[in-house]
Amino acid sequence: MSAYDGATLGERIANHFGGSTEHLYGVLMRDLAADWERGGVVREILAGREDAPPGDMVQLRLLAGVHRIVLRGDAPELAAFYPSVGGTADRYAVWPALEPVLRSHVAELREALDVAPQTNEVGRSIALLAGLSEALRRSGMRKVRLLEPGASAGLNLLVDQFRFEGDGWTCGPDDAQLVLAGCEAAGFTPEPFEVVERHGCDLDPFDATTPEGEAYLRSYIWPHMPERDGRLVAALATLREHPVTIDRAPAADWVRDQLASPAPDGVLTVVWHSITRQYWPAAEYAAMLAAIDEARSRLPVVRVALEDPSPLPTSGTWRPQVEVDDDVIGHCTHHGPPLDLLP
Ligand SMILES: C[S@@+](CC[C@H](N)C(=O)[O-])C[C@H]1O[C@@H](n2cnc3c(N)ncnc32)[C@H](O)[C@@H]1O
Repeated sequence: MSAYDGATLGERIANHFGGSTEHLYGVLMRDLAADWERGGVVREILAGREDAPPGDMVQLRLLAGVHRIVLRGDAPELAAFYPSVGGTADRYAVWPALEPVLRSHVAELREALDVAPQTNEVGRSIALLAGLSEALRRSGMRKVRLLEPGASAGLNLLVDQFRFEGDGWTCGPDDAQLVLAGCEAAGFTPEPFEVVERHGCDLDPFDATTPEGEAYLRSYIWPHMPERDGRLVAALATLREHPVTIDRAPAADWVRDQLASPAPDGVLTVVWHSITRQYWPAAEYAAMLAAIDEARSRLPVVRVALEDPSPLPTSGTWRPQVEVDDDVIGHCTHHGPPLDLLP
């Protein structure tokens, strides 16, 4: 069972983590779903969202809004349950601390539902490194123009500034602020490359070099995963040293515009996207593929992605897939390693 299973919004919230309560967000999903079923404040906050597509993940938008309130110090009793701010209280007792926070922030939390999740997850850069390495091997090229639609704050555009550690190999600067361990995968050794240009777009970009932008991004990290928060904080420090520009634009139009400009000779254009396709209208993805196909006659270009399979498998377990053009070359989690490449 997953967030995609259930006839009602309440059922999909209850199923978000397959009903597991092994961490704070599992308990919170259970408690939010129960309150929705009994017509409590959760039903009031989510009014009008009952028929939202499951991929909108309104429950994660709501919990990010709550996390922001916790991170800025406005809910000290609730904060005692949040590992992200050092809380250690018994998660099964969280509801009496959560409900008053929901009741006193209805308007703010309803506004939070308007914003699509902005999990700019730098762990996913291992999938980019794997897909990029495959593309470099296929093309024999070493210089890269990196284009990322749905880039959020653009952290993964800094893939060449991160250090990756695998089985007997490392990749990236020795003094990198972000070190991603556990990147080994059978048969995988990264190819050397140089990023000569990088650009991104997002429907809702924001500047993560400001304190507000930083708090905003951190609110989307699940609070029971402080190691992800640590990686994000390291990547944000990298971004302050190497700022990137993220245009406000929808994916397909932006990719088409970018591909209209030629890349310098000997440079491979890589269109990279991760965990964003599920939020795009189907026509947007089709239009982006058409723009890439049209550009192939003019320049070397490849699409690399880490995305949920589409359509989603109806049974069994699955993980996001690493795609290089039409090929699935491996799998990775939504948050990065472990990476598995197909033989
Ligand atoms: C879950 S985040 C993933 C961000 C980033 N790719 C990563 O993996 O860390 C999804 C992002 O897709 C963006 N997005 C959704 N629909 C979009 C569209 N049609 N065009 C461009 N960006 C879009 C959202 O604003 C959001 O920043």
